[in-house]
Amino acid sequence: MIPINLAGKVALVTGVGDNQSFAWFIAKALQAAGAKLVFASHPRMVNIVINLLDSDKPDDVEARVLPYGAGELKPELVVACDVSYDTMDDVDEKTKNDRRWNKHGDFTIKGMIDQVGPKYGGIDILIHSVAFAAEIKSKAVDTSRKGYLGALSISAYSLTALTHACAPFMENRAGGASIVGLSYLGGDRVVPHYGGGMSTAKAALQIDAKQLAHNLGAKNIRVNIISAGPYASRAASAIGDIDQMIGYAAQRSPLPRGITPDEVGNAAVFLCSPLASAITGHVLYVDCGYNVMGV
Ligand SMILES: NC(=O)c1ccc[n+]([C@@H]2O[C@H](COP(=O)([O-])OP(=O)(O)OC[C@H]3O[C@@H](n4cnc5c(N)ncnc54)[C@H](O)[C@@H]3O)[C@@H](O)[C@H]2O)c1
Repeated sequence: MIPINLAGKVALVTGVGDNQSFAWFIAKALQAAGAKLVFASHPRMVNIVINLLDSDKPDDVEARVLPYGAGELKPELVVACDVSYDTMDDVDEKTKNDRRWNKHGDFTIKGMIDQVGPKYGGIDILIHSVAFAAEIKSKAVDTSRKGYLGALSISAYSLTALTHACAPFMENRAGGASIVGLSYLGGDRVVPHYGGGMSTAKAALQIDAKQLAHNLGAKNIRVNIISAGPYASRAASAIGDIDQMIGYAAQRSPLPRGITPDEVGNAAVFLCSPLASAITGHVLYVDCGYNVMGV
């Protein structure tokens, strides 16, 4: 049998907002393979995530069960990180004075890395599973400059910012380090309802991952993207008719069904494992093959 053994690896997972997030399923798969988890969640989501990790409600307990009978999801640490901000110098006064943010202390990328990097002595895996566009329901032609640049900042530049901040802790790790981001076909093709700068952000994320793969390859850090099929997470439900998008893709995909979030988790573990040691700068479609279709 070929083992995937991530025992002793430290995985920093962004984008866990609830127990439906792709990042939740990626985290479960990484822990099932042996990795230690640190969650860096949006300041407003930290308490929600901690409550879901502690909850005794049967559905919440069930949502924590790891695949392969590997136990229960248990990150070592949940820290706050708003990826809009590199350091506290970038934070506007309104956010600085907002209790939902400032109760976490330094909630910027620097503040998060300062808590995580030295504590664990290194980071082997970084998962970027963050996206937001305030005007996602606007057509491209109607998107404001502010909405467009905001979508690019949070959903695309954050990969570069997080990678820049994490790289010193990811360099020359035993077996190499791995960064995985999440994209969607709307970054390659026109998907109606995927507006507000989000399709541009996904296109940017994909080429940025290739650039970063080139920049960091000599340090044995690999950077890849999973382009996932549509799935009804909290973020996707903001797009509009996500159920219709899922049904449409399911009917037309070579594998005639929707994806499950576990399948995204499994693909992420593969990309973070030694089995993918020569794979970098790649966009892996986990979409039941929908991306190959012309009609
Ligand atoms: N659900 C889908 O259909 C689908 C398909 C392909 C790709 N994706 C991508 O998967 C990734 C995860 O999305 P999801 O579907 O799991 O939804 P989700 O809502 O569970 O995850 C999005 C996360 O982004 C976080 N976030 C937003 N703004 C942030 C900020 N400023 N700082 C820190 N965190 C912030 C949210 O708190 C949330 O945890 C996203 O990149 C998304 O575009 C989703």
